[in-house]
Amino acid sequence: MSFQGPAIQTRPAGSAVRARQHLFNDRTLASYRDSLAAGVERVSDRMARTDRPFSGITPQQLAPEIVDIDLDRPLEDPAAALDELEDVYLRDAVYFHHPRYLAHLNCPVVIPALLGEAVLTAVNSSLDTWDQSAGGTLIERRLIDWTAGRIGFGVDADGVFTSGGSQSNLQALLLAREEALTAARTVEERTALLPRLRVLASEAGHFSVQKSAKLLGLSPDAVITVPTGADRRMDTAVLARELERCRAEGLPVLAVVATAGTTDFGTIDPLPAIADLCEQAGVWLHVDAAYGCGLLVSPTRRHLLDGIERADSVTVDYHKSFFQPVSSSALVVSDSAVLRHATYHADYLNPARMVEQRIPNQVDKSIQTTRRFDALKLWLTLRIMGADAVGSLFDEVVDRAAAAFDLLSTDPRFEVVTRSQLSTVVFRYRPAGEPDGEHLDRANLHAREALAASGEAVVAGTKVDGRHYLKFTLLNPETTLDDIAHVLELLAGHAAGLLAEPAAA
Ligand SMILES: Cc1ncc(COP(=O)(O)O)c(C=O)c1O
Repeated sequence: MSFQGPAIQTRPAGSAVRARQHLFNDRTLASYRDSLAAGVERVSDRMARTDRPFSGITPQQLAPEIVDIDLDRPLEDPAAALDELEDVYLRDAVYFHHPRYLAHLNCPVVIPALLGEAVLTAVNSSLDTWDQSAGGTLIERRLIDWTAGRIGFGVDADGVFTSGGSQSNLQALLLAREEALTAARTVEERTALLPRLRVLASEAGHFSVQKSAKLLGLSPDAVITVPTGADRRMDTAVLARELERCRAEGLPVLAVVATAGTTDFGTIDPLPAIADLCEQAGVWLHVDAAYGCGLLVSPTRRHLLDGIERADSVTVDYHKSFFQPVSSSALVVSDSAVLRHATYHADYLNPARMVEQRIPNQVDKSIQTTRRFDALKLWLTLRIMGADAVGSLFDEVVDRAAAAFDLLSTDPRFEVVTRSQLSTVVFRYRPAGEPDGEHLDRANLHAREALAASGEAVVAGTKVDGRHYLKFTLLNPETTLDDIAHVLELLAGHAAGLLAEPAAA
């Protein structure tokens, strides 16, 4: 007796036929071209009309527009969806290309990288294995080698693209942790050693170091923060003392994290002196150059990174100072062998035999599996405009920050913290005779918020020695000193307005 199952439907039903029209393939190329052209047109139109970096909208004003959209009733038509997008996103987005966007480490992006983004999302390679990417894998490898060469690493170097500086730092510390734990021969020894491991980083280092320590199962007091001097660079005398203290107390240091471009101050820790100390102590040196990596291609300032070539691992964020769209970052290590700590062979994906067959599977080096081909953006950037051009853009913003520092230093209404080696400026409104304290803090907080609400400019804020400061992060060569002077006038006006109000009791 034969089995009579349900009738098999051989033809797609009407809705399935319509759905298939949205699949990108050789039969839908006209729709692909039209849709993308329409998207490019909208963005161009919006850019042409954007006269300020932000509309000043509040979350309370915008949220209802998004909440009210019925996601179960598609519009079908790209033009209608783009109309809607205008209201829920494009109109009120924060525009990093605008010369008065001066807030966080977001750069305007270069057009060759946008071209790369369009290509990579359409082809949609996944960089975990050769059999999902082919040339993509080789291009990524070539760019890692190129970056390693710029760092000054030798032939044993290797690395992998990551989603960002936080992930690069996490992976660096994972590799360093595993190296530190090789001293443990048994599970019991490993368990006993793990809570004793320490990481040394400067107080101006990035918070992803603390987060990584937590994710890596280190003890809550594992990260020892080394103070900085008045120049906001790691105090190497204290670092030396801390290394010695850890040794004396039997607390193995799994890594020293030096920062080449602190997020707030744009300062670079003294890399040669730190490398000397790490070498003497036999400790892993990680250099977080998420921000400062742009100096790798600077025609005039590469020397500021001298000593980076002595690191065991380096974080580079192309999406900060190489003018690349998010995401684009890499972790580069001086000795490829350490990447084995991120290797796992899955039968279905990257079985061990593939290593013998010399099949290049990047997943063997990555903590991600499916992974975007972000390297393509950098590839097209280098192939179209070249490294020197990228470096000269970064040089320009570093010059501009120096000029902004000078401007602020001679303005009696402001106090400026320290001269950046990169492109930030940390300052606050404090006219002569104005006492320090909460009222002044409120004035600076208010100035930042009022400015953002007006949409005229966006600046960042931070705390220095417990007090509220304002911060410019300059990454746009189009930002002129006049823009900066104008923003300072606006900030001074807002802050003075609040200071004129009576201090809260
Ligand atoms: C010095 C430094 N390291 C790491 C990071 C984290 O990078 P990402 O935001 O790409 O994760 C940042 C971000 O600003 C940073 O400034």
